[in-house]
Amino acid sequence: MTGTLRPLPTTGSVTGILEAVGFFRDPDFASRRFHEFGDVFETTLIGQRLVFIRGEQAIRDLFDQSDAVQGWWPKSVQTLLGSRSLANRNGAAHKARRRVVGQLFATAALRRYSPSIVAMVDALADELMESDADIPLADRMRRFAFAVIATTVLGLDGDDRDALFTDFEIWTKALFSVPLAIPGSPFARALSARSRLLNRLQTVLQEANDGGRGGLDLLSGGLDEAGLPLTDEDLVEQLLLLLFAGYETTASSLSCLMRALLMHQDLMPWLQEELDQLTWPPQDDPTSAFDPSRAPRLQALSSEVMRMTPPVGGFFRQTVEPITLADVQIPAGRVIQVALAASNRHGTGDLETFRPQRHLDGSSQPMLLPFGGGERVCLGKALAELEIRLMTVGLLKRVSFSPVPGQNLDLQLIPSPSPKDGLLVSAEPL
Ligand code: HEM
Repeated sequence: MTGTLRPLPTTGSVTGILEAVGFFRDPDFASRRFHEFGDVFETTLIGQRLVFIRGEQAIRDLFDQSDAVQGWWPKSVQTLLGSRSLANRNGAAHKARRRVVGQLFATAALRRYSPSIVAMVDALADELMESDADIPLADRMRRFAFAVIATTVLGLDGDDRDALFTDFEIWTKALFSVPLAIPGSPFARALSARSRLLNRLQTVLQEANDGGRGGLDLLSGGLDEAGLPLTDEDLVEQLLLLLFAGYETTASSLSCLMRALLMHQDLMPWLQEELDQLTWPPQDDPTSAFDPSRAPRLQALSSEVMRMTPPVGGFFRQTVEPITLADVQIPAGRVIQVALAASNRHGTGDLETFRPQRHLDGSSQPMLLPFGGGERVCLGKALAELEIRLMTVGLLKRVSFSPVPGQNLDLQLIPSPSPKDGLLVSAEPL
């Protein structure tokens, strides 16, 4: 905080109906208002006051005042995730559960998962090359990202995984819906799917305790904030959160990365020079075989995808005390949306251009936070980054892709960016 304190600018919207229409229809909703009101402003979306923030100073100020804010989700998400979920907890209860769940993504756990991820990439490459028809690649990326969590982390096999997937898709559809359980409504169906999902996850947990596959044995002995063992009811809500947080996001980044390579033809020769130095399948530890020190161009490409098409466009906090962000005063009880997508394109230079080289030549702006930051930084970051590295190298070392002409490569942005026509490609062996 540097200058004179200012009151919170507001759009003046009261009901927020028109603002909500703009929010869902206009990809530049936040940017337009930032341009008019500055890096911190308040508006109302269907009766919910929201403070939007962008830019390094406001976001850093927010992380620096973590004691004055808590996690927040819309009512529909809160209910569907459940009151035990760490996403809905704060303080010591949140920290204790992060410690327990974080064990699933520690280096030793990733080493355990990586052979199975390599095998899944190879199976996908085989399937793509065998197909004579045009392939919707975004759909294959979704199935891949789901399988990594369901098979590798949770240890589910074919039938169990398919049943889980069906309920999970019903559950996801209502995440950002009106949270009224009117019979037959998406929300009511999602609540029933939620109880089936929890039952299934309960069985999975039981099997893990009896020596099943996956990583769930790593959770045994997990303690809550009072040092007492976490109950199964508590643990299954954390597993449901992992499906929610880890699937759509990772699938989006994989699809957007492949889309970028297909749209910017000059990128492939540039990346190919690096791929020629790498071996598939990885000869040594797959968790580090393609890390940023060995594959800096791949890392730059991935960063640029996260900058231009962040899988999570924004996340929320609620103030429990008054705070000041970029010299703007925010009262207690306000919901803040950290607008990552708008922040990533704000600043000087060619920020509207897709140019991965900016992350290697020092011309990149310092703040890029696709995984959030502070006490709630993404728990699955290391797994997501590993999936992106293995998938990209594995597919591109074996398969040559061509985009099917005439398709719409624009993105639908909600819940996470994904090509509207599904990213249709044909695939040939290299
Ligand atoms: C490219 C993929 C991903 C992106 C861009 C991403 C991004 C994010 C972001 C922005 C947050 C919110 C941070 C905040 O509120 O400050 C978050 C939270 C979270 N993510 Fe991810 N995520 C990804 C993949 C995953 C995966 C694979 C998992 C696990 C399987 C995961 C698990 C979580 C969890 C559990 C939280 C909640 C943390 C908390 O509230 O303490 N994420 N993620």
